[in-house]
Amino acid sequence: MVRPMESDSGARLERLSGMLKRRGFILPAFEIHGGSKGLYDFGPNGGRLRNRVNQLWLEHWTSMGNVTEISCPTITPYEVLEASGHVGEFSDYMTSCISCDEVSRADTLLEEFHPNPDSLSKLELQSLLEKSAPQCPACGTNKWSTIISQNLMFSTRIGAGNSGREGFLRPETAQGMFTSFPALYRHFREKLPFGAVQIGKGYRNEISPRQGMIRLREFNMAEMEYFIDPEAPLNHDYTQWSGLQMVMLSEDKGELSITIAEAVDSGIIRHGTVGLFMAKTYDFLVNVGIDKSRIRFRQHETNEMAHYATDCWDAEIHGSYGWVECVGIAHRGCYDLQSHENYTGKTLRARREFPEPKEVIIDGWTIEGSVAGPAFRSQAGQVKDAVEKLPSDTQFPCEIILDKEVVVVDSSHVKRLQRTDLITGEWFIPHVVEPAFGIDRIIWHILDHAYQEIEKQDESYTVMRLNPDVVPVDYAVFPLFEKNGMQEIAQKVSNILNSKRGVVAIYDSSGSIGRRYARADEIGIPICVTIDHQSLDDDSVTLRQRDTGEQKRVQILDL
Ligand code: GLY
Repeated sequence: MVRPMESDSGARLERLSGMLKRRGFILPAFEIHGGSKGLYDFGPNGGRLRNRVNQLWLEHWTSMGNVTEISCPTITPYEVLEASGHVGEFSDYMTSCISCDEVSRADTLLEEFHPNPDSLSKLELQSLLEKSAPQCPACGTNKWSTIISQNLMFSTRIGAGNSGREGFLRPETAQGMFTSFPALYRHFREKLPFGAVQIGKGYRNEISPRQGMIRLREFNMAEMEYFIDPEAPLNHDYTQWSGLQMVMLSEDKGELSITIAEAVDSGIIRHGTVGLFMAKTYDFLVNVGIDKSRIRFRQHETNEMAHYATDCWDAEIHGSYGWVECVGIAHRGCYDLQSHENYTGKTLRARREFPEPKEVIIDGWTIEGSVAGPAFRSQAGQVKDAVEKLPSDTQFPCEIILDKEVVVVDSSHVKRLQRTDLITGEWFIPHVVEPAFGIDRIIWHILDHAYQEIEKQDESYTVMRLNPDVVPVDYAVFPLFEKNGMQEIAQKVSNILNSKRGVVAIYDSSGSIGRRYARADEIGIPICVTIDHQSLDDDSVTLRQRDTGEQKRVQILDL
């Protein structure tokens, strides 16, 4: 019998966490020093599993053909994150318990009292906090301080002493991909659409991380920034998902079971590329072993979206912590490139050619060089740019605002500019659609969904039914006894298997064969290879399948 997940879920969660720690999947970090909330190690088995998930993720997106991998620093200068809006906007609302000083995120405290407290303003949260008086999770009292906004970035100094400058550990990998836009544009021969992917660490100084792997202060992200021309027609083909009814919680229509094509056509998903990436996200999650019946997509409410987004869908996965956001698929519009362009004055644009050249009538003003040059000297170029933007009915003298001062331009400085130009194209700021994956949360759910507690007659055991593509170990090799040459054969078999590219085999000789099978099941090893007395005679071994327990004999040469 397989125990259903919902019964006894707190105790199951404890048993699962204990097993993951014991078997070297996920462990609290720095435990011998007392640990630190929100920081976890991937142990020897977790580390390999994470690598395989990362590799599958990279292949999933780069196989689109117009997507490339890059890697940017995690230490980020202040200016980058000021330009991106994170210095001003990247914060959560926090309150402290008056009795014990425990800090909490206001929206988390209020989850029982509102269907989506994340969408509430600071004032609304404050009033709900006062009205509902939730209990402090640490001491059980219910008096709270006034809510304040807390920026979530870890700040640091880049360089020493007076020559050091302010910086942050990056809160998302995305910004490095935006600031690399000129290099990406060159790499893709100046043709949209294209994407950059990046896997790496992100850092958020979470106010009160209380849910294991779900809320971390240092976490593994995998993001793609996909740059598109907002005016180019979309020709995405959704036919491969035409038989797939996906569960979607739409902002306007509530819960639906609907195909991607229907959701895009009816405007529930507001952009076709967002829809395409939702479908591809679903495929990835199922491919790494997430139970398809426990995936749904939830659209952000307009007032819940991040400061950069114009539409956003979360892929949520159900597990021991309920429904958890694991992927965000956001339409970021031109927000990021525009912000970096405004801040730096550097051009972050792509060119769009017109199908036919267009005639443009210019009817305005330019400067009279012989008068304006000596009058404005080094500012003459700036004055020219400003004058050429003035409407044709401008009256002179008039004031023009430059970077640092205001200058007066009179009629002697200017002359009429009237001509007809033929233009073949224009420069514009690309839009961006971003699928952002929380790798730790996905790995947690892979493990949670794979974990099965089996009770059969008089025995009970656990098995991790991991997808063979993500298992940390592919084969366990056991000598039945370490004598009569069995261990030499087993070692040889283990070496042969390990010499195959991408294959991981472990040699295990400790304890009874039953205990070794049980350990292998907990790690999720799909196949155990046992070398016994018969192997000495005929070079055959026993293969035992993790999921069926079925055993068969094969020749070593046929392995
Ligand atoms: N780049 C998306 C996020 O940080 O969640």
